[in-house]
Amino acid sequence: MELFEAIRTTRAMRRLDPEQDVTDEDVRTILEAALKGPTGGNQQPIRWLVIRDPDIKKRLQKIYQRCWNRGRKPYEDEPGKVAPNVLSSADHLAENLHLAPVIILACADTGAADKRHHASVYPSVQNLLLAARALGLGTALTTAHLFEEDAVKEVLGIPEHATTYALIPVGHPTGKWGEAKRRPLDEVSYHDRWGQRGPSATTAS
Ligand SMILES: Cc1cc2nc3c(=O)[nH]c(=O)nc-3n(C[C@H](O)[C@H](O)[C@H](O)COP(=O)(O)O)c2cc1C
Repeated sequence: MELFEAIRTTRAMRRLDPEQDVTDEDVRTILEAALKGPTGGNQQPIRWLVIRDPDIKKRLQKIYQRCWNRGRKPYEDEPGKVAPNVLSSADHLAENLHLAPVIILACADTGAADKRHHASVYPSVQNLLLAARALGLGTALTTAHLFEEDAVKEVLGIPEHATTYALIPVGHPTGKWGEAKRRPLDEVSYHDRWGQRGPSATTAS
């Protein structure tokens, strides 16, 4: 798949087919792509946890459901803040997380320093999402589990010197791929000074 098509069509695919497995080879391919992401000083603190065990997935789902119940609250309190179909698909994921063939948890080994490494983890996470898209695999970047990170760490035996970032279900999507809906570039990009418009799509080139 062409890179720009993968970028355009990588979406949060929360409805995954529980019957269609993801091969170990595909998991390896997307993790190999992920670990090519940059990290500060090339220190590579990222650790990937690949979860297939049904009992462990179910335990994670129970925690995730509780977390999502908290995470969705601001959206409930402010109707219109998020599209109803996004909420219903996020609800679906919370109820069915354990049915995803694979869950990948992006972690970092923080060593002695009590430090988080967001900026050294997320470039690799995005690589993973794109690589999965190229293989026809759906993913959703989620962070709701952070409401109960300690509980997640306990289930997975994650030591104190490691931290978690994104919990990503991976599987074959049941829905269609579509282009991600985003604000127009001219609305969100400035040139030379904050607020100053640059050449628009019609005048550029
Ligand atoms: C930092 C971050 C945290 C997110 N956390 C969650 C989450 O906990 N649960 C969830 O269902 N989706 C989560 N998402 C997915 C977003 O809701 C999704 O990317 C957004 O709605 C755009 O969806 P689209 O790419 O399909 O257009 C998260 C995305 C990001 C970038």
